[in-house]
Amino acid sequence: MRIDPKTWLKSMDALPVAVFVVDDSIRPVYLNHEARALVSKPAGNSGKPLNERDLLHLLNIKTADSNQPYPREQFPVLRALRGEKASVDDIALKLGRKTRFFQVSATPIPAENDGPRFAVATFMEISARKKMETQLKWRNLELQSLIDQVSAGKQELRALSKRLLRVQEEERRHISRELHDEIGQALTVLKIKLQTLPPSGDDAHGEQAVSPKNMREILASVDHTLGQVRNLSMDLRPSVLDDLGLPAALRWYVDRQARDSSMDIRFQSLSSIDRMAPEIETACFRLVQEALTNTIRHSLATKARVLLERDPDGIHLRILDDGSGFDVNRAHEKARAGGSSGLLGMRERVRLLEGRIDMKSDSENGTRIIAFFPLSSPDGDLKEEGS
Ligand SMILES: Nc1ncnc2c1ncn2[C@@H]1O[C@H](COP(=O)(O)OP(=O)(O)O)[C@@H](O)[C@H]1O
Ligand SMILES: [Mg+2]
Repeated sequence: MRIDPKTWLKSMDALPVAVFVVDDSIRPVYLNHEARALVSKPAGNSGKPLNERDLLHLLNIKTADSNQPYPREQFPVLRALRGEKASVDDIALKLGRKTRFFQVSATPIPAENDGPRFAVATFMEISARKKMETQLKWRNLELQSLIDQVSAGKQELRALSKRLLRVQEEERRHISRELHDEIGQALTVLKIKLQTLPPSGDDAHGEQAVSPKNMREILASVDHTLGQVRNLSMDLRPSVLDDLGLPAALRWYVDRQARDSSMDIRFQSLSSIDRMAPEIETACFRLVQEALTNTIRHSLATKARVLLERDPDGIHLRILDDGSGFDVNRAHEKARAGGSSGLLGMRERVRLLEGRIDMKSDSENGTRIIAFFPLSSPDGDLKEEGS
């Protein structure tokens, strides 16, 4: 059965794409409704056929992305006339003031008995897709620039955080020495002077001297103050940490906390440990200080253990107590909302040295804080920043 050509020409007019049929001199021999609309040629204007100029120049074909004239020899219609099947979707047409984007496909129509060659071309509008692609491209660029800003900001914050911790430690060390050397010294001198005062009675000018009982009280009070100054100095920055290193400092600190709290707290070093980068020694010490303070303050524990171990990769630190435990996630949420800084401070110290920390706690097993500090990379870069 044959379809009446009028019928299929009519259906071609109903297609939502522009269809051109051109002969081998690029003269259009057929345009459907959309094609005529595209080149603004009135229907049935066969007296003035479209020519090559009409098709290429009148349509002002540009490449969609670079807005450059489209390379002529690659234009699908011309390729189809050379016998190739071609399709491109980067064609921009400036139609009036508007630029519209098309996917252009062309196929050769085989010549019949040495007759002229024809090609059929379709122009399918893809402006909406192009617009979305362009928007997407911009969004991606914006997103990338935001990501870059955030990661630069993160790096800056990290560097700042490291610097702050270092300055804080230096400041503590300074105040600690000042307290120990200056104020401690002054109090010791005061004590010696008081001890060498003449015994009770009136002095040479007839003034009443201090009674032995009062003197004992004054001396006890000076001793007490001296002890407090020493403790304060040691808490700020124990000189043993700088002088003898981490295990010695931890042993001293744990023994003192055990004595003061009457809890069974012990320290064990599971391998021989040499001196390490000062920032790692400091971080470990501060972690133990914070964790044991929490144990004593919050846990109702009877026992606590501090274990230090070194392996080829780094340093492992464990602080365990047999207390009542706590909800670690809730405590972190509260801390992030501005509640407290102890647990977050521990995490931050570990993070800055590229280590790991794990906090587990429940009412049956108490609290276990397990931290690891790598001994390779981060100490070097910390030192660099300090200089
Ligand atoms: N070892 C522990 N045993 C029981 N509770 C703890 C322990 N460590 C921390 N906590 C709980 O976590 C909370 C947050 O601790 P932290 O951030 O150090 O703040 P702070 O000690 O100032 O309250 C504590 O208030 C306490 O409720
Ligand atoms: Mg705390």
